[in-house]
Amino acid sequence: MDIAGDTPGLAESYWMDSTEPTSYPTLADDLQVDVAVVGGGIAGLSTAWELVRAGRSVAVLEAGRIAAGVTGYTTAKLSALHTLVYAGIRSAQGAEAARLYATSQQQAIEHVARTADELAIDCELEQLPAYTYVESAEQVQRIQDEAEAAAAAGLPASFVTGTGLPFPVAGAVRLERQAQFHPRRYLLGLAEAIVEGGGAIYERTRVLDLDEGRPCRLTTEHGLAVTAADVVVTTHFPVFDRALLFARLVPHRELVVAAPIPADQDPGGMYITQADNTRSVRTAPYTDGRRLLIVTGESFTPGAGGVGDRYGRLTAWARERFGVKEIAYRWAAQDNRTTDQIPYVGRLHSAAEHAYVATGFGGWGMSNGVMSGLLLAALITGEPAPWAGLYDPRRLHPLREAAPMLKAQAKVAGHFVGDRLRSHADSVDDIAAGAGAVVRVRGERCAVYRDQAGTPHAVSATCTHLGCIVAFNDAERTWECPCHGSRFAVDGSVIQGPAQRPLQPRSL
Ligand code: FES
Repeated sequence: MDIAGDTPGLAESYWMDSTEPTSYPTLADDLQVDVAVVGGGIAGLSTAWELVRAGRSVAVLEAGRIAAGVTGYTTAKLSALHTLVYAGIRSAQGAEAARLYATSQQQAIEHVARTADELAIDCELEQLPAYTYVESAEQVQRIQDEAEAAAAAGLPASFVTGTGLPFPVAGAVRLERQAQFHPRRYLLGLAEAIVEGGGAIYERTRVLDLDEGRPCRLTTEHGLAVTAADVVVTTHFPVFDRALLFARLVPHRELVVAAPIPADQDPGGMYITQADNTRSVRTAPYTDGRRLLIVTGESFTPGAGGVGDRYGRLTAWARERFGVKEIAYRWAAQDNRTTDQIPYVGRLHSAAEHAYVATGFGGWGMSNGVMSGLLLAALITGEPAPWAGLYDPRRLHPLREAAPMLKAQAKVAGHFVGDRLRSHADSVDDIAAGAGAVVRVRGERCAVYRDQAGTPHAVSATCTHLGCIVAFNDAERTWECPCHGSRFAVDGSVIQGPAQRPLQPRSL
């Protein structure tokens, strides 16, 4: 069955489809700068912009195209209301930690508005409230606790029972002064400002090695050297992982469907609930005066399979709850959660002096990406950074983190061992057109995809990051690694790290 073909909507992010592709040059010579930023998503471009503004010479080195990886496939909520985070942080780390988290996130949101204004970037920024809601009366106490914790952390939060949603809720946290925007319009404007300010952006420039000397030295896949006093790694899942953060990061993937709705049916806010395996709602300006309803949900581990069915459930929910008729777009977002729910932003490892990282945004990459830019620029320039300790990747809270770390690692170990013991199809002949499966061929696990013309394409099924076995995503037609979330095209090329090298071709 052609599963991808059965899922309605253009298989592309609206943010990507509604903006022009970029064409920054590929690095052609060795380079020397004050700061090299590896990764051109929202965290990397935000960091680069702050440093250019501070007078540093900066180069952004992006393996693909800027704002086109994880950042191009977000839901783009600029919210400090991260589902139910404040009660948890306060109980685990205290009231001051919750206050620092709230202040840093809210400051990031306001910083986007100021920057867009200052640079005259038309990024469709709209200020509106954010809500975390429940429909079941049994869950209301959690919502009341979160509203109280968020307010105590200094945010304009309250408990409400009325929202703009077209269905009743049992209760919701409502947070004022939040925002939604078009992330690529914002970041493409920021990229232009970086270059106009004297910074450089290089695309199709994959960095393979980091030597943390003085200065630091980066080596690209084409053997070129970039020397820099400071290096920032903002590649989503860090490609240089000297603190072994992979043991403390859990990847998850979510699906998105987008459908036009009449403007007078706009729910007037950004919404999220943990029910039904997460449902998140926002809108964006769309054609003919309509709004584009963007619904996200169906959280799953990369490689878990059944993606076509997950799209079906999400589409059915959008139709049932909002009466949408035509699904215009569908795409998927991916992020990593940390073991204590707070991102890792700061020095790369305990001995690092000039290498920095930002990762583990937990699905809240917009505010966390901008916050990371402000924080990393402050660390590099020596400005005060009041929340540096909260986000420091070198923190480890053994008592609090032991259980989630062990759980994450047990899951990885299960995939590492268990996935080696089973094939997903007995033979290549069992794989239908448009489908893929892991098959043992001459004793080796091969990832085999059969194209629509019936021709099978085989690559090694062993992930080039740390050796787990990949699995097929039936809706996106990609190979995904369940251990740390690397993604590969059916020809084996890397779509998303931490893997840096492709899956090698195999003959059948
Ligand atoms: Fe780490 Fe595949 S992403 S082993």
